Order: sequence, then C-alpha cells, then structure tokens
Amino acid sequence: MEQRVLGRTGRPVSVVGLGTWQLGADWGVVLEDDALAVLDAAADAGVTFFDTADVYGDGRSEQLIGRFLKSRQNEGLTVATKLGRRLPQLPENYTLANFREWTDRSRRNLGVDRLDLVQLHCPPTPVYSSDEVFDALDTLVEEGRTAAYGVSVETCAEALTAIARPGVASVQIILNPFRLKPLDEVLPAAEKAGVGIIARVPLASGLLSGKYTKDTLFGTDDHRTYNRDGSAFDQGETFSGVDFETGIEAADEFARLAPPGATSAQTALRWIVQQPGVTTVIPGARNPEQARANAETAALSPLPPQTLAAVRDLYDRKLRAQVHPRW
Ligand SMILES: NC(=O)c1ccc[n+]([C@@H]2O[C@H](COP(=O)([O-])OP(=O)(O)OC[C@H]3O[C@@H](n4cnc5c(N)ncnc54)[C@H](OP(=O)(O)O)[C@@H]3O)[C@@H](O)[C@H]2O)c1
Repeated sequence: MEQRVLGRTGRPVSVVGLGTWQLGADWGVVLEDDALAVLDAAADAGVTFFDTADVYGDGRSEQLIGRFLKSRQNEGLTVATKLGRRLPQLPENYTLANFREWTDRSRRNLGVDRLDLVQLHCPPTPVYSSDEVFDALDTLVEEGRTAAYGVSVETCAEALTAIARPGVASVQIILNPFRLKPLDEVLPAAEKAGVGIIARVPLASGLLSGKYTKDTLFGTDDHRTYNRDGSAFDQGETFSGVDFETGIEAADEFARLAPPGATSAQTALRWIVQQPGVTTVIPGARNPEQARANAETAALSPLPPQTLAAVRDLYDRKLRAQVHPRW
C-alpha cells in the first residue's frame, strides 16, 4: 500500500490506516477475538498505521493492540494513541505529572518502551495556547516516553493554533465529504509546515457507507444513539455533526457518485486520500470485511474532477449550513 511520511514524525505510514475506537467501547460490543481479527485483517491488507486512545474502553483498545503487536514485530507498524480524557476536561489537568502517568499506562497497555506518537485528545481550547503544556510534551519526548506528539482537534481554529507550534508532528481532524472546512486553511497550513494530517471519522460514523435508512436504529450502548445531540462528547464526533435525516438524504446522493466497482464507503475514503495535505485516513471497522474493503481503497484510481465538483456541490446544498460555521 502507498506510504506517506507522517509529518514531523518522519515515519512512513499507510495512506489508509485503521481507527480502533470500535475495539474499545461506544459502538456496541466487539468481542476480543473479533477485535484481533480486525487488526490482523487490516495489517494483512497493508495497513501500517493504527489509531487508538487511552480511554477507548478504558484501555481495552490499547491492550488489544498490545497483544496484536507482539505477533507483528518488525513489520514497521506505527501506533498513535491519545491522552487527556482520563480526568475532567479542565486545562489545569494537563500537567507534566499527569502526562507521565498516562503515557506510562499507555506504554504498559501497548507493551512498548516508547510510544510512536501521543496526541492531545481534543482538549479544552485554552490548552492549545499554553506554553507549559507544549513544554511538558517536549519533556515526554526528551524522556523517551514518546517518539513524537501531535494533537487531535475539534475545530479548524484549534488545528491552526497547533500547527504553529514547532514540536507538533501531526494533526488529527474530522475530514470527509460531509466536512469540507479543513480544506480551506488547515490542509494548506499543515502541508506548508510539514505537519501530518490524520483524517478521522472519514465515513461520518458510517453514514457515508450509504447502508442506513431513516429507520435504522443503533444500540443503546452506541454513541450514534446517545451522542446525537452532543450530550456525551462533542456533537461533531457523531455523524460528523450532521443531523441523521439530512445525513441519510445526503448519503443517498453521495452513493450515486461511486465509480463502477467501488462502494460508497470506498468512494468517500478515496476522496479523502486524494486531498492535498492528507497523510492518512483512519476508518473505524467493526469486522475484518470492513477493514479489508477500506484498505482496498488505496489501490483505486483517483476520482475525476467532475466527481470532486459534485461532492462540493452536494456539501454546499445540503450540509454546509449545518457544519461549516461550527467546526
Ligand atoms: N476525538 C478523537 O480523537 C476521535 C473521535 C472519533 C474518532 N476518532 C478516531 O477515528 C477513527 C474513525 O472514526 P469513527 O470510527 O468514529 O468513524 P468512521 O470511521 O467514520 O465510521 C466507522 C463506522 O463506519 C462503518 N464502516 C466502516 N467501514 C465500512 C465499510 N467498508 N462498509 C460499510 N460500513 C463501514 C461501520 O459502521 P457499523 O458499526 O454500523 O458497521 C463503522 O463502525 C476512530 O476509530 C478513532 O480511532 C478519534
């Protein structure tokens, strides 16, 4: 699979990675053997970049990746984790002492001496302006707890603030055909600064697969039930912040743009990887079939200009008013 250098980490990673929130919690139950099968299917299909967080299943996702890594030594895999959400979301909790404790727990969970990349996990906005926080992250690198650090952001403004920090290796941001704002300023700024871009929620939590209808119900333990209004965490993390009914209509229209031989989900991923400035896209997968289908996207031909224009037109008509001013 095509590899791209992940910004200031200097590490080559596969252009299609794997998101592993599903292997922790918040998407209904994924059994342990099934979770390991997802990781194996992705790696067998050429995926070398895995995104997790210390809070996904309170460490379950990291621990499963740790088991998987043991059987995949010397395969050049990169694992990015996140920190910051084990305590209430207050800027004063973003201290060097907490960072040390959290990264040590992630190192134990993953079974590694040094993390490849640790990302601030959508912290409160003032954290991005704190020199102390970024000094503490530099200290983690000096101490060998992590090889590099990055940020996972909610808004484009946060991304731009982070990109201006010299030690930030990568920015993780929501980017998909229903969330175009990062194309305006964030991707060009990241490219200019040599900062990697990790595109998350690439399928708008599955909407862009085109497989749901207005009657689709999700489990009570699935954030697509309990976070539609943002009551558990940022509303933008569920369906990209698009209300479900509008999302279904837009997804139906998007599905008609898929080229022959590609699914709607693959078309969305293909659209993302060909945006200038994107390093890797990290679709979440609940089973090996999804992981394989997503990895296959890397081999598809680029979408033609008329499809790119149609995506822009769909966004402008149906989605821009809902999402563009907020994130
Ligand atoms: N704050 C943060 O830093 C943050 C927040 C959110 C996500 N993330 C990261 O980003 C990753 C990706 O985002 P996400 O998982 O939230 O959303 P996503 O990738 O947009 O959507 C994942 C869902 O799409 C469906 N799907 C995946 N592949 C498919 C395929 N080939 N065909 C049909 N349906 C498919 C599955 O839905 P079903 O379950 O219905 O099958 C899956 O659960 C996460 O796993 C996590 O690593 C980070």
